[in-house]
This record gives sequence, C-alpha cells and structure tokens, in this order.
Amino acid sequence: MGKLIAANWKEHPKTEAEALALFKAVAKKERPDGAEVVICPPFIYLEEIAREFKRLTPDRRKGLAVGGQDVFWEEQGAYTSEVGPAMLRSLGVKYAIVGHSERRRFEKETDGTINKKIALAARDGLKIILCVGESLSVREKGAAVAKKFVGQQLLKDLKNIPLKTGQLFVAYEPIWAIGTGKNDRPEDTRDMAVFIKSSLKKTRRISVRFLYGGSVNSKNAADYVQLKEVDGALVGGASLKAEEFGKIINSV
Ligand code: 13P
Repeated sequence: MGKLIAANWKEHPKTEAEALALFKAVAKKERPDGAEVVICPPFIYLEEIAREFKRLTPDRRKGLAVGGQDVFWEEQGAYTSEVGPAMLRSLGVKYAIVGHSERRRFEKETDGTINKKIALAARDGLKIILCVGESLSVREKGAAVAKKFVGQQLLKDLKNIPLKTGQLFVAYEPIWAIGTGKNDRPEDTRDMAVFIKSSLKKTRRISVRFLYGGSVNSKNAADYVQLKEVDGALVGGASLKAEEFGKIINSV
C-alpha cells in the first residue's frame, strides 16, 4: 500500500478563488506511483473543489482525493452548521478528518462526540483520519506517559465501533508540534507508530495506517514518511503552498 499525504488547509485561504487556484496547482504536481494525496479544504469550498476534481482527467485524478476537515454524528436534522457523512459522500468526498486537536481545544470536542462521529462516518464508508496526540505537559512526563495518553484517546474514540481494515488512519499529531516549527524526533514517532498499530491489532484486531503530523515541511517530511512504520503525513501550514506541498508529496 502506498503512502498517504493529507493536506489540512484549516481556515485557509480567505477566498474561493485562492482555494481553487491552490487545488489546481496541487493537482498538477507529479505524484509518486501508489501515493495518495488527500486535500481537505474548508467546507465552504468543498463543493467547488469536488467539482474541479471531477473535471480532472482520469490520469490526474489517480492518487488524488478530497476530504472534509470534520464530519457530524447525525446524517441530517436540526443541527445548525453541521455537515453529515452522506452530504460529504454526495459530493464524492472520500475522507474525513475527525478529532483534530484544534477542534478538541476550540470547539470543546470530547472523545465521546468524536466516537459518535467516527461511528457514523465508518458506517457510511468514509475513510477516517482520526487525530490523536498529547500536550507538552504530558510529553514532558516521558514517552511512556505520552503513549498511555494516546492509548486512552484511541480506546475512547473507537469504543464499540466495528471498523474494517483500511478504513482508519490514525494521525499522531503531538499538540506541541502543531504550527510551532517543533518536530517529534523520528525515532519517537516510529515508537508511537509501533505502539498504536500493535495495540489496535491486539485489542481490536484491525490494521490501521499511521500518519505523522506536526510542522511537517519539505525539509523534514522524508524523515517521517520514509520510515517503514509510518504510512504518511498530515500537513497543515506547508500544504498551503503548492510548490512546498509538491515537494512533500515527492518525499515518500
Ligand atoms: P502544521 O503542519 O501547520 O504544524 O499543522 C499540523 C496539523 O495540525 C495538521 O492537521
């Protein structure tokens, strides 16, 4: 299975014209055989970008996909501003990020609501990029404490959800490394990958793919994505520049 490089545009860019231009520029970039690139724009641009995606030639579409930055836990209803999995799928969207630390922090998302979101999205056949990761204060207590924290997040986020192999990507994004220019040490990332994969294999009997996220750029991407245990990266800031992101795609 090839590596996956996902772009989380977060609340960028400011206009639809810029979003479309960025998508088109990224779609033009060469992609290594077997690699999958997933672009997750703000919801407001998703429809137009999904349309643009469908306009690409089959050759250019290969290895490229569009994802949501979030997904709600009900298909429809009186839930102002929310977007359900069926809505995403109706646009041809294949992936959804769930449980990003910025949503946990600013929108007060809990493991309980994240669990409900994953349950519905999985039932609907979306591929899920579940974000986990510890804060600096946890990490300062050592790698074992960080693993325990992440293990607890996974336990709660995935509780009672039947998952199929291939459906779940776990993005390990240590909070202290997001947007800070600080990176996890690749050997620590590898350890975390082994821990996450083996514990889910043991407790849930599923194989998951592991992504690293946190200040990934064109200079350090290869240190992570070329590790055998790491299946790709979730990229924030550096995914907003087509040139830079193109280099990251080609570091796999
Ligand atoms: P940065 O790459 O900007 O650190 O963001 C990482 C992230 O949060 C991706 O979801």
